[in-house]
Amino acid sequence: MVLVTRKTHFNAAHRLHNPSKSDEWNKATFGKCNHPNWHGHNYIMEVTVAGEPNPDTGFIIDLSDLKKIIEDKIVEPCDHKNLNLDVPFLKGILPSSENLVKAFYQELKEEVEAVCSEGGVLYSVKLYETERNIAEYCPFRKI
Ligand code: NI
Repeated sequence: MVLVTRKTHFNAAHRLHNPSKSDEWNKATFGKCNHPNWHGHNYIMEVTVAGEPNPDTGFIIDLSDLKKIIEDKIVEPCDHKNLNLDVPFLKGILPSSENLVKAFYQELKEEVEAVCSEGGVLYSVKLYETERNIAEYCPFRKI
């Protein structure tokens, strides 16, 4: 199996707040990330596709196709937006990095796998919220 990764970035605002819990609980749980007037991140995202290269092209996926899908499905709706308010596919989702990578994976899967080499899959989505805080969703890995 071969892996190929496309790296991209976007800027977005969010707030970690669970409306089903009290303000005290939210403040104690999320600290500064619960600040009512939002805060922003320079997100870096890595989308990885796995499979065997197509014998005619040598590609698992044409990276210009992958770039366009990521732009259309994730960057365009999320860049310079508020992830709590502005992004239809994130409606009702608490925008932690963990929840974001799962939502991004679901959003990308169908279109990515439609243009992969035969048997290729969307392998993982990794999100750097900061240089040091990173979440990754990979349904193929088992603990
Ligand atoms: Ni944050």
